[in-house]
This record gives sequence, C-alpha cells and structure tokens, in this order.
Amino acid sequence: MLPDHQSIAPSVLYFGTPVVLMVTRNRDGTANITPMSSAWALGSCVVLGLSSAAQGAVNLLRDGECTLNFPSAGLWANVERIAHTTGVNPVPSHKAEMGFVHESDKFALGGFADQPSELVLTPRIAQCPLQFETRLLTSHSSAKQRHGASSTHLIMEVDILRVHAHRNIVVPGTNHIDTAQWNPLFYVFRHYFGDSVDLGKTFRAEH
Ligand SMILES: Cc1cc2nc3c(=O)[nH]c(=O)nc-3n(C[C@H](O)[C@H](O)[C@H](O)COP(=O)(O)O)c2cc1C
Repeated sequence: MLPDHQSIAPSVLYFGTPVVLMVTRNRDGTANITPMSSAWALGSCVVLGLSSAAQGAVNLLRDGECTLNFPSAGLWANVERIAHTTGVNPVPSHKAEMGFVHESDKFALGGFADQPSELVLTPRIAQCPLQFETRLLTSHSSAKQRHGASSTHLIMEVDILRVHAHRNIVVPGTNHIDTAQWNPLFYVFRHYFGDSVDLGKTFRAEH
C-alpha cells in the first residue's frame, strides 16, 4: 500500500469487535442485559472491558457470574432498542446527559426471551445462536483513569464453563461452529456491521 496515511485524533477508537449481550442478575434476582463489544477470547477465558458505572459490572462483581450471548447480525435493531438504557437507577448524571434512561426489563424492551442456564443462575438470551455460561476469575481497574471521571474502566476475565450453540451453526456430529452459517454482529466505530465474507482460514483451523 502507498504511504498515504494521515495522523488523526478520532473521538472513538472502537475499531471493530463482535457485539456481546452480557446478562447478569440484579440484587432482586431479575436479569439485566448489558450490550458490550470490548471483549475477546483468550484460550478458555474471555476478557471484558466494562465501565464500573454499568449495572452489568456491579452485578458481575457481586455475583461472580454472567452469561455472554452473541447476537447474529439480524438482531442489530433489537440491540439498538436497549442501547440507550441502563439498569442503574437513578441514572448517573453523566449518562443522563447523554440521553440514557433507566430500564428494569431490557428483555421486554429488546424483544428478547430468557432461557435458563445449566451451570449458573443467570439466564441466557434465547435468540442468540451462541451463548457462554461463565464465572468471574479476576477484575482490575484500567491503569488509565479518565480525568475527572466518576467511573473507571474495569478489565474482567471470565472463565467459560459451558458453550451453547444453536444446531443451525454447528457442523453436524462435531463440536465445530459452522462458520458458513454463523453470522456475528460487529460494532465498528459505533456502527453495526454484519454479513461478513469468509476470506479463507488460518493454518490451524480444524474445520
Ligand atoms: C453495541 C454496544 C457496545 C458497547 N460496548 C460497551 C463495552 O464494551 N463496555 C462498556 O462498558 N459499555 C459498552 N456499551 C455501553 C453500555 O451498553 C451502556 O453503558 C449501558 O447503559 C450499560 O447497561 P447497564 O448499566 O444496564 O449494565 C456498549 C453499547 C453498545 C450499544
């Protein structure tokens, strides 16, 4: 490629990661959905980046468990329906200023159905073809505290206890995800992307 780059200062650095719907349980036992995208797999763990102001982070720290639910691209409008909400009540002032409102039932608002888990008390989201049951391993604060901010970023590592995949995205008779069928939703510089094209596989791919 020709050396034709510019130095820029983007206000958003979300370069493109899958959307994850993290479900946690509130103190009263009801379930909350936290849409997030700062997440990646590391061996049998997933590393999550969460604002300490998110209800999901508070619940995960208290209960030590969550489910991670991966929506397919077709669910982007359902995700966006709950994007402006928080389980925190009252809404923190910095979020209220951005237009966030409190919502105690994000399942109903987003048109999602809950599905019981097998190893944890936290439910899954039935419409998500891929779901992980997890338990919290570690959590620490990001070294970079935003100046004057009332919240910080938490980096949380969760252990995957069980993986559930809809039969439509599993290669029959195997433990492999059928990547021709799995169409994850991505969050790229605050836009939703989907329908990704399979360009080829790495030398370690088993399927
Ligand atoms: C697609 C998408 C991705 C997001 N990614 C993150 C993220 O990675 N970490 C985070 O703390 N918040 C993220 N957010 C913002 C949270 O969803 C938002 O703060 C929400 O109010 C949290 O809900 P809760 O307070 O009920 O947990 C994202 C929002 C959307 C719509």
